[in-house]
Amino acid sequence: MSIRHSATHLTRSLATRSPRPAAGLLGTNGFQKSCMATVTPPVTQNEVGKQGPTAMVFMNMGGPSTTDEVGDFLSRLFADGDLIPLGPLQSYLGPLISRRRTPKIQKQYAAIGGGSPIRKWSEHQCEEMCKLLDEMSPETAPHKPYVAFRYANPLTEHMYEQLLKDGFGKGRGGRAVAFTQYPQYSCSTTGSSLNELWKWRNRLEGKRATGETNPDGAITWSVIDRWPTHPGLVEAFAQNIEAKLAEYPEERRKDVVILFSAHSLPMSVVNRGDPYPSEVAATVHAVMHRLGHSQPYRLCWQSQVGPSAWLGAQTSDTVKQYVARGHTDLILVPIAFTSDHIETLYELDLEVIEEDAKGHPGVKRAESLNGSPAFIKALADIAHAHLKSGESSSRQMHLRCQGCNSERCLEQKKFFAGEQAKILPTVK
Ligand code: FES
Repeated sequence: MSIRHSATHLTRSLATRSPRPAAGLLGTNGFQKSCMATVTPPVTQNEVGKQGPTAMVFMNMGGPSTTDEVGDFLSRLFADGDLIPLGPLQSYLGPLISRRRTPKIQKQYAAIGGGSPIRKWSEHQCEEMCKLLDEMSPETAPHKPYVAFRYANPLTEHMYEQLLKDGFGKGRGGRAVAFTQYPQYSCSTTGSSLNELWKWRNRLEGKRATGETNPDGAITWSVIDRWPTHPGLVEAFAQNIEAKLAEYPEERRKDVVILFSAHSLPMSVVNRGDPYPSEVAATVHAVMHRLGHSQPYRLCWQSQVGPSAWLGAQTSDTVKQYVARGHTDLILVPIAFTSDHIETLYELDLEVIEEDAKGHPGVKRAESLNGSPAFIKALADIAHAHLKSGESSSRQMHLRCQGCNSERCLEQKKFFAGEQAKILPTVK
């Protein structure tokens, strides 16, 4: 969800070893169907030579699949102090802002087809990744796809309840991997999703979650917390850029400017020490390296709102300024999103390209990663390496921001670091 479009925006699934219930879990209305499914036997992970099943949980912000879901989506979004810090008035201001913004945001979702495609793409990507993982890592198979969104269905708590119904946890153990779908880490995004996951684990697995009873009976969690320069991710972005470049006449191609666009952050978050800006820049550099630095390029930031200072330069301003200077061959590349949603389909396509660039034919957008085979293979490679590593997370995740004074961050990071003792390398 665009901070621009929700915050005034920031002020806006087994346990059986045979057939994967992916379609039941994740298809259209699949989550509801799976909730009514016959209870499956508990997972057993002590069979010689087998360490599966493994739950693979894609975490993302999510978006309303229909305009009717916009109100609830905004309400959850504005209640999240990790994403939109409104201070002690959060519980008052959050509902107020979300109610006021709902009609306008509903119109924007209506303009992109009536809802966000992020659930469809997340479910597709996770299912396809799990199929590849079953072949690459039979020791940890079957890999079961689940999606957990922070602000839209399927919510984190619903994903967790489904895990428990599917035979994980509650004294039965099991392994789950929380795989962030934000390639670059921010405490506002991946950090918020991990805080939410930690909260629901404590609520739904009770004292097992704190180790006060049998700690082996709870789900063992590990985290893929960032992957900004993974070669597969870089390759997927580069392929989409090359495909778009090929649309320009050959004589103009070398002068086409690449404008990488990422969701902005308030400078208060940047100055707290959030790692996101440097990780986004790392992705940009890696993609340009892969392209042989064939084009001029800039990184700009979208979706900023409100009177406070945000990380810039803004994408909309950048396009206006470059077009005014005669740079009318521009390719916008959404570099921090893994699928289409309102920031690409509405903000970039309708606002920036149609309005700011006045629909100039030389101003285009690279396709989002969506169903890219290179991207789905990258996801499987990242997950496979994680399962092989025996690490509960990256080393980077346990270092808090310089200016962080959040108890929630402290406890969440302690929890995931503590899972390390329960994880053994699996595939060699
Ligand atoms: Fe970054 Fe807490 S805000 S670790």
